[in-house]
Formats: sequence, C-alpha cells, structure tokens
Amino acid sequence: MHLVTLKDWSAAQILEVVAAGSALRKNPGLHARALAGRTLALLFQKTSTRTRCAGEISVAQLGGRALYLDWRSTNFGLADLGDEIRVLNEYVDFIVARFLKHDDVRCAAHASRVPVMNGCCDRYHPLQILADLQTIHEALGRLEGVRLTYVGAHNNVCNSLIAAGLKVGMQVRVATPEPEPPAADAELCEAGRRAGLYSATTDLRAALEGCDVVYTDTWIDMEYFDDPAFAAEKERRLQLYLPYQLNARLLEGRDLRLMHCLPAHRGYEIDGEMLDDPRSIIMAQAQNRLHSQKAVLLHLAGTRS
Ligand code: CP
Ligand code: NVA
Repeated sequence: MHLVTLKDWSAAQILEVVAAGSALRKNPGLHARALAGRTLALLFQKTSTRTRCAGEISVAQLGGRALYLDWRSTNFGLADLGDEIRVLNEYVDFIVARFLKHDDVRCAAHASRVPVMNGCCDRYHPLQILADLQTIHEALGRLEGVRLTYVGAHNNVCNSLIAAGLKVGMQVRVATPEPEPPAADAELCEAGRRAGLYSATTDLRAALEGCDVVYTDTWIDMEYFDDPAFAAEKERRLQLYLPYQLNARLLEGRDLRLMHCLPAHRGYEIDGEMLDDPRSIIMAQAQNRLHSQKAVLLHLAGTRS
C-alpha cells in the first residue's frame, strides 16, 4: 500500500493514523523496536526541514534507519524512474518521495513493491495533512463538522485539505483571489462541492465567519520562491494576495485556531507575530509531523498501534 494522495485512503485508515499519532505523541516510546532492521529512503528533489527530519527521526525512534538521497546526487536523473525505484526496492523497506511532479510520484509508486509516501509534490501533501488532522483533533476534539477556512493560494496543501475533508466530514472553505487555478484538483473540487464540504470565494471576511480553523500556506511553492524566471509571477502574486494576509487586524476578536504548514514567509501570507498568537497551533502542527510520520510508517508496515 502507498500514500500518494489521501484520495486513495479510506476514512478508517486516516482516522486510525490520526489516533495512532496522538497515542505516539503522548507516549513517544511506543513501538520502539517495531521497525528494527528496516530502512526508510527519503528521495528528495526539493528542499525540506520538517518532512526530512520527521522522516529520518521517526524511523530511528521505531528501531529502523533512514537513508537520505538528494536526487541530484543519485543516478535517478540519468535513468528510467521505474528502473531506479526497483533497484531501491532491493535495499529499503519504505520510500518517502518528494518530487516536483505528481505523475512521477505515481510512477514511482506503480514501480515499487515497498510503500511509497508522497512527501509533497505539485498537487498534494498528504503527510502534512495527516499531521494537521491530528493537530485539529487534539485542539478541538473532533474532525467531523469542523469548519476550516484556507486562505491564500489554492495549492498542494489546499488540495490535500479538501481531500481529507471529504473523507472525515470536515468543511473546507477556500478564500482566495484566484479560485481554482491550474494547481487545483478540479475533480476533487467538484466532488467536494457536491458533498457540501468545499466552497471557494474571493470574499475573505465572509469565509472567516464562523470558522473553527484558519489555515494558510505560501503563495509561491518552494521551488519557485527564489527562481529568477518566476520573479514577475512572484511580484504579480504579492500584489494580488497581500489583502489575504493573516494578521492581527483581520483576526481580531475571532475565536479560531490558526494553522500554517510552514515554512512561513513572514510579511507575506502571514504577519510574523501571528505565529506566537495564543490561537496559533502552528508549532503543534510541526511537532505532530514526527508523531504522525511514525503512525504512517506503522500503518504501512501493517503494525497496528
Ligand atoms: N511543511 C513541510 O513539509 O515542511 P518542509 O518543506 O520543511 O518539509
Ligand atoms: N505549498 C508549499 C508547501 C510547503 C510544505 C510548497 O510546495 O512549497
């Protein structure tokens, strides 16, 4: 079994990982030898702090070991992706793939007989959202019926929130100046709309009314942030999205929890002071990446927690 997108997972699987992640947060020593002798490869085309650290440390805490592979230092770029994945299968028991293109994650999963986890591609970020669901559940005591407003650019994180919402009954409203850009999963949006669990609007204040959680992410995915070829598009987005920044004025008097998958771009999608706001559960999210990653590994290894 793989974790390419949460669309492929059942609600029961998602809820099991959420519960197991919380149990591991309370007792980090659980299952300390469960993955003894097993190896997790982290094959990354993009940079990372949380996904890499959570990956490496999670498998170590379960008794196994990690192998970090920067794509550029391997021969993956010279060869057929499926061939190289099959070779990697001879050495390792799990793979986290952080690839630029979703189709390549799919291709890797198709070729692999060991579980492949999508560590963030252009379309989805399922490992992040499993940790987020755990964080929301720990903060609010429920997932079903939670009203989450995602503010900013409809991207990989946003798609995965909608996919998760559809499975667990969480309502996702998207407040954005550009509803459903090419990065949006149009079929998923349609399914979410039909289920009454997804909507999009340009009206930020209306979208914040009555929400339990407000979530934002970068307006520009990491691989483009400092890319000179993207400079004009970056400038266009800054102008367009700045009114959608999460800041004290916008959130004044609102009873909600504040989330961001990080890294935060202070002064862009979020005013830096909001990270330390009493309503922020951003650091809990980051911490839960580790516990949730352990729960995902145990789930994929067939070890119930
Ligand atoms: N949230 C997240 O995936 O962070 P990294 O890009 O640092 O892994
Ligand atoms: N949308 C962001 C997520 C970072 C974890 C990106 O792809 O850069």
